[in-house]
Amino acid sequence: MSHPLTYQLDLILGTERPANLREEVKKYLVSHGFESFVEGDISDIEIDYDWGHDENLVTYLGALQTAPNITLYRYDEKELLLLKKGIEETFQGKVSGRLSTIKTQDWQEGWKDSFKPLRINEFFIYPPWESKSPHTEDLSIMINPGMAFGTGSHATTKLCLKSFSHWYAEHKINSPTQPFHVLDVGTGTGVLAIASKLKGASTVVGTDIDPDSILAAQENAKANDAELFVTLGSVKEVDSIKPAPKTFDIVFANILLPVISELFSQLVKKVSPQGALIVSGIIVEQENDVLALAQKHSFFLHERNEEGDWLALVLKPKN
Ligand SMILES: C[S@@+](CC[C@H](N)C(=O)[O-])C[C@H]1O[C@@H](n2cnc3c(N)ncnc32)[C@H](O)[C@@H]1O
Repeated sequence: MSHPLTYQLDLILGTERPANLREEVKKYLVSHGFESFVEGDISDIEIDYDWGHDENLVTYLGALQTAPNITLYRYDEKELLLLKKGIEETFQGKVSGRLSTIKTQDWQEGWKDSFKPLRINEFFIYPPWESKSPHTEDLSIMINPGMAFGTGSHATTKLCLKSFSHWYAEHKINSPTQPFHVLDVGTGTGVLAIASKLKGASTVVGTDIDPDSILAAQENAKANDAELFVTLGSVKEVDSIKPAPKTFDIVFANILLPVISELFSQLVKKVSPQGALIVSGIIVEQENDVLALAQKHSFFLHERNEEGDWLALVLKPKN
């Protein structure tokens, strides 16, 4: 294990707290790039993420919304020390931070009950403490989530994989020998990028603004023997990766709508003329917002997949 210790920052909300303090702290975290945290602590992690619908809050790691603390787990102590200082200065007397360490193994124990192998079409995603699929026709992907998003169990990840499977089947009918390239913006654990590589993509590039995700994606790529080009950043940083093509046959963006809207004009430029943009992280009511963006950039809706409140849209350029 490359990180034997995990740093834990408990943000303790004072007992005399104003009603909106919890929401204010969560907003602070998200706006400072800390999108994964637990309301409560490791014993409260639920894998069925509570991903805020109000476009601002992202609580990736489960929620116990009455807990007196919000907890972050990271490998980087400095990052948490800076956050502790920032929070204590911003919420003077109302929130205090307590930094401690736990064994990374214990942190992983916290996941074990909730992260079980799962099958999504031909993909079989399993954690390091389980076994790969006994069926040789399955594409087994071992994912160690570390601190990143992407165990495969969130509806948006599943929808992306399903959309990709369909695209792949069509692609093979239309251009059986044509190689294909994939870009995964917001790669998290690298699950979509690794799935693409195992499916035969020639070049796969993944980016993420979260350093822990980059680390997780790199380690997962290695564990699956999948060559990925992973870099810290977003769409603009793709051009700095030298073997990366100018455009890609598949561009994934499983991120929330505000981020997708902001990046949309850059994302569409990365899609090859015959390619597709697979966007998820969108809730059903937001579909028209995305379709308006697509229309504006001369893309059309090729396929739509839905699970619960969530959507993945496959958009293609009007040629
Ligand atoms: C919902 S997770 C998706 C993870 C994985 N692709 C999956 O499908 O399971 C979204 C990821 O996007 C990253 N992210 C957020 N804003 C971003 C941006 N502007 N550019 C690149 N990545 C971003 C987050 O750090 C997070 O890892």
